Amino acid sequence: MANVIVIGAQWGDEGKGKITDLLSRSADVVVRYQGGVNAGHTIVVKDQTFKLHLIPSGILYPKTECIIGCGTVIDPEVLLRELDQLKELGISTRNLLISETAHVTMPYHRLIDQASEERRGSHKIGTTGRGIGPTYADKSERIGIRMLDLMDQQGLHEQLEWTINYKNVILEKLYNLPPLDPQEVIDEYLGYAERLRPYVVDTSLKIYDAVRRRRNILFEGAQGTLLDLDHGTYPYVTSSNPVAGGACVGTGLGPTMIDRVIGVAKAYTTRVGEGPFPTEIHGEAGEHLCSRGAEVGTTTGRQRRCGWFDAVIGRYAVRINGMDCLAITKLDVLDELEEIKVCVAYEIDGENCEHFPRNARQFARCKPVYKTLPGWRVSTSDCRSLEDLPGKALNYLKFLAELMEVPIAIVSLGASRDQTIIVEDPIHGPKRALLHPETTSASLLSA
Ligand code: GDP
Ligand code: IMO
Ligand code: MG
Repeated sequence: MANVIVIGAQWGDEGKGKITDLLSRSADVVVRYQGGVNAGHTIVVKDQTFKLHLIPSGILYPKTECIIGCGTVIDPEVLLRELDQLKELGISTRNLLISETAHVTMPYHRLIDQASEERRGSHKIGTTGRGIGPTYADKSERIGIRMLDLMDQQGLHEQLEWTINYKNVILEKLYNLPPLDPQEVIDEYLGYAERLRPYVVDTSLKIYDAVRRRRNILFEGAQGTLLDLDHGTYPYVTSSNPVAGGACVGTGLGPTMIDRVIGVAKAYTTRVGEGPFPTEIHGEAGEHLCSRGAEVGTTTGRQRRCGWFDAVIGRYAVRINGMDCLAITKLDVLDELEEIKVCVAYEIDGENCEHFPRNARQFARCKPVYKTLPGWRVSTSDCRSLEDLPGKALNYLKFLAELMEVPIAIVSLGASRDQTIIVEDPIHGPKRALLHPETTSASLLSA
């Protein structure tokens, strides 16, 4: 039995969907704990591609229970579309449960998200425009609508009438937008409520019950460590807590019941939206990574910015998440490069800096200090064990593991399930000796 959190170690889109799907094979329950339809998790099974926004990536396994936890925000229209699409593809969704205390994204959230981005002009965050920030803001302001409110017809009427009139002042006066008709929104959302009702329960009870029955629970993070509201590159972040700690708050499970944390990182780095990105490549190598890695946003279709692997933020992600091991994805994307750079430290105003600076202005001034490694220039996509990898690719992985002081348990070399090397059992293998760094380096990337 193990309860495992899978988190993104960079700025999102690390391949969490693929890794969660892979690990779901031995999971009884898979839980999303934060984020909303800003997430886009891709799973490729043979010739089928699934793009999930809210439904946990364990859904493809018919016996696995999938839970959308209380820390998420739910856009019912998108969720219902996702349910319909899965059903059309013959995937059963009867094992899905939704937290009754998850907050609901309303039309005014989407409108305010988009209008406020426009108003910010050059200060925009580059959000997905899906209403995520405004939904979490209303949660903090204590005027949010939760799933259980949606299920209460009379209560919803009263609550939404007041809230929509309040939001209409903002829409009209601040953003020059037409007001929403409260009755229209209420009717629309009551329709969603009827379809979602069978799924809505107290999921914290279900999760606790699964723990007591010694089930294997997988917590699937959305976004990534550097997009975390508290620990990321604020203000260029999302409005939830993707870090491992978020899994407890976002599900209602105590930290003593978590066994380990697996970080997912690309063999290089990408970022969508605005904000500083020290290792970003403006030029040919960046375009090469972008096209070979098909770096186009799963949710918004925006082109992702590409850069070299950044071990400074990598080390930071290891620390903030208490990471036990890493899954390195998209190694195959580097196959054709003659040389590959890795950022080992930053230089800020002429000073060496080995830690991620928390001040966004300072972070924007960081210049990467690179170590250049030779490329391997052969295809790795058919490699299925460490022995199959070219020596230079293995050296590259060893270098990353040493820099980050965390073992690499999984290497991914393509989007499909079988394009994977399991170096060490990420769930039942040895835990990282956190407080004894002298014991770690010898066992890094142990074959
Ligand atoms: P997530 O949000 O972290 O789940 O990641 P996304 O699904 O948004 O983006 C990752 C993309 O890379 C998807 O299109 C995956 O199918 C693809 N992918 C995942 N792992 C690999 C890999 O090892 N190699 C390649 N070439 N593609 C991968
Ligand atoms: P997955 O789960 C990559 C980014 C947006 C923007 C910032 C804030 O697929 O890894 P938001 O709409 O959340 O208010 O936008 O966060 N962002 C993501 N980037 N992957 C994601 O999810 C993201 N979700 C949000 O591009 O910069
Ligand atoms: Mg994604």
